[in-house]
Amino acid sequence: MNAWLAEKIDTDVPVGESLIRRYKALYETEVIGLGLKTEFLEKASDYEGVQVHLLENMAGVRVLVIDESTHMTTGTYKALDACLICADAQQRGINRVVLSSGGNLGRAVSHYCSRAGMHVFLFHPKSTLHKLERDSFPTESTTVISVDLHERKVKELSRQFAETFGLAHVPEMRLRIAASAARALHLIETISSHGPVDTVAQAVCAAYGPVGIYDFFDKLLELGCIVRHQIPRFLGIQQTANAPICLAWQQGGSELLKLESASAVEKYIEPGLYNTHPVDSYPQFYALMRRFGCEMLGIRESEFSERSKQMVEALESTGFCFARNPVTGEIIEKAGLLAAVGVSIAIERGIIAQGETVALLLTGGSRSDGSHVGIDPDLVVDDSKPIDQWVSVIGKLFVLDFEGAR
Ligand SMILES: Cc1ncc(COP(=O)(O)O)c(C=O)c1O
Repeated sequence: MNAWLAEKIDTDVPVGESLIRRYKALYETEVIGLGLKTEFLEKASDYEGVQVHLLENMAGVRVLVIDESTHMTTGTYKALDACLICADAQQRGINRVVLSSGGNLGRAVSHYCSRAGMHVFLFHPKSTLHKLERDSFPTESTTVISVDLHERKVKELSRQFAETFGLAHVPEMRLRIAASAARALHLIETISSHGPVDTVAQAVCAAYGPVGIYDFFDKLLELGCIVRHQIPRFLGIQQTANAPICLAWQQGGSELLKLESASAVEKYIEPGLYNTHPVDSYPQFYALMRRFGCEMLGIRESEFSERSKQMVEALESTGFCFARNPVTGEIIEKAGLLAAVGVSIAIERGIIAQGETVALLLTGGSRSDGSHVGIDPDLVVDDSKPIDQWVSVIGKLFVLDFEGAR
């Protein structure tokens, strides 16, 4: 391990506890460039830990399962993003934030921010309501608005709402990218202890995760902290029902296709992977992936159902535990499993060759509070009014009340 990097690791904080606290010295550097003070990071941090398991032999491939779920507060790697978002807001003296999210980032931000005494307005697509639970959304500190409209309208509404009432809209892209620098440094630690990795695999929505990981690899390469051949290529996995990055990448273009390619939300394997047109992140994703190598794989519903049982068994044999809906038995968060199914298909198709090692980023799937699924949103937005009318309705319902209550 390079000396500059080694200095940034606080080995007194176990990997399984918090990557943010373990790498806090990294977050103070100009390289990350957030200007975040450690005291705010430490105060915001809860559990942002990971664990590595080895699946010895999947058709001749070594699979390192990087569990970014079990030891993450609220069960997904979005705990890293949420911790930085919360610390940054606290440092800037902000006490109310607005965000739109497919659900997981919203759960994490609500958890971290309400712990810090802040108020969160969360706009999420109604299709992910089954994934939200009251534990992460304390009534007094969060306002949950389910939007029964196209994904782009969810985003438009939350932005317009924040702008109209002068509230901070989070997260900024720089925070998302910085959050995954911790995952990149953890991958470097994993390579040091487990040997070379050929491929890093992750389920992709807007690709902030891979952009953050490879942006940091790129910086380390420039600094001379790592060498090119240490950097694995990327395998991104999307559900074919909503695979804008997959389609653009496979067409070889640096731009997303103009036509919307998403099917009806009911056809999604994982409704949380909801971004239909990730314009903010795609150009950087494209540039980094051209540099470091990438395969994008679309998974059909039939492929997912054929293989998921076997992959669940393989992952659960490592001690990982998927959270299931207590009534239906369905796995609540499927992004991690989608990536695992993608890896098994990539092995079968020879995209990952025998003798190689793949790091499978299990970004979600487990949650300690899985039995408490289900909340009533504070409001459901539908197409009965135009967006600007909804903005004033929400303002009247919550902002003014909220101001009055202070
Ligand atoms: C559990 C989980 N995994 C993976 C992703 C993919 O995120 P991204 O493509 O931005 O890295 C998301 C995003 O919503 C997620 O919630």
